[in-house]
Amino acid sequence: MELANRLSKLPPYLFVEINRKIAELRTEGKDVVNFGIGDPDLPTPAHIIERICTAAHDPANHRYPETDGLTELRAAIADWYERRFGVELDPAKEVLPLIGSKEGIGHMALCFIDPGDLALNPDPGYPPYSLGTILAGGEPYPMPLREENDFLPDFEAIPHDIADKAKLMWLNYPNNPTGAIASLAFFEKAVHFAQRHGLAICHDAPYTEVAFDGYRPPSLMQVPGARRIGVEFHSLSKTYNMTGWRIGMVVGNPDMVNALFRVKSNLDSGVPQAIQYAAVEGLRGSQEHIAERNAIFQRRRDRLVKVLSDIGLRTRIPKATFYVWTEIFQGYTSMDFAKTLLDELAIAVTPGTGYGKGGEGYIRFSLTIPDDRLQEGVKRLSSWRRRA
Ligand SMILES: Cc1ncc(COP(=O)(O)O)c(C=O)c1O
Repeated sequence: MELANRLSKLPPYLFVEINRKIAELRTEGKDVVNFGIGDPDLPTPAHIIERICTAAHDPANHRYPETDGLTELRAAIADWYERRFGVELDPAKEVLPLIGSKEGIGHMALCFIDPGDLALNPDPGYPPYSLGTILAGGEPYPMPLREENDFLPDFEAIPHDIADKAKLMWLNYPNNPTGAIASLAFFEKAVHFAQRHGLAICHDAPYTEVAFDGYRPPSLMQVPGARRIGVEFHSLSKTYNMTGWRIGMVVGNPDMVNALFRVKSNLDSGVPQAIQYAAVEGLRGSQEHIAERNAIFQRRRDRLVKVLSDIGLRTRIPKATFYVWTEIFQGYTSMDFAKTLLDELAIAVTPGTGYGKGGEGYIRFSLTIPDDRLQEGVKRLSSWRRRA
């Protein structure tokens, strides 16, 4: 058997060692507090579950869905964008449901990248941006996200020939893993930069509804002209605690949306219809749980950030996402530091380098663990200081 070369181009999976260690510790009976996984511990709201249940009983929903989704869902997505961001979308041409945004992100590379093509991607960044490019035969070109630039890419630092050659630029705000946010002014700059260099923009925005202290993250689509060159990926995963149901969307430039539709319609058969009806319920129904849920994450954030700064780990207070991005002590790599936390405190975190070289010097905590587990983690971290 001979596997395709493209598989050998995928970078090694960095979390293997950490996951193996977690499994070992658990076998030894150790109680590991896992801050590694970014997946809401809180349930999908009850009215959404009810809608899945009724839709599941309807035989019409037992058959293949259409790749472009239910008309009702595309309309609900367009209406949500209008209510939330004041952005008008044509539900027939500028909206496409996805089997979770990750699926669309991966497949988007196939729409733009031929062998040898370049895509600009944030470093550190959510891995599918660069992995999609690699699987399509292209080359990811990292845009470093540095703390001194508030974890925003410095467009001026990208060599002109690279910007001219690249076909696509990935952005993601509110950002995983850094928790950074971007203003509308930043998105305007990104659109001008992309226009100057003939780039398409893919903005990945699944965390706009996970925000704190009254902050409301903007959409790239609010920038005049963004729709001429870009799309935005969004998801119900984080907004409605629906990661397991797999539903997201892409909106914006009709040619880009249609290109993704053409790829997808040849590879998948769309989102199960019962889940599409649940998404309509999520988008159109009560949004009250979002504020309640964010209040829980905010309380957890404050507890964690306090203990981290008490023990001397410099941490910015994130205004959005459920991630806390923390600078580690000097003298460690982020992988060594993550292993040390696991060995000494049975606390699992994600090493920053899991998101690219630019993540060196940092670790990521996720706030998606129950309060009592978070409290246990906080207790261990504070005792660590005393021992240190
Ligand atoms: C930045 C970012 N984009 C996309 C996704 C994927 O979300 P979905 O569940 O919609 O596939 C995640 C999930 O962690 C993410 O962090």
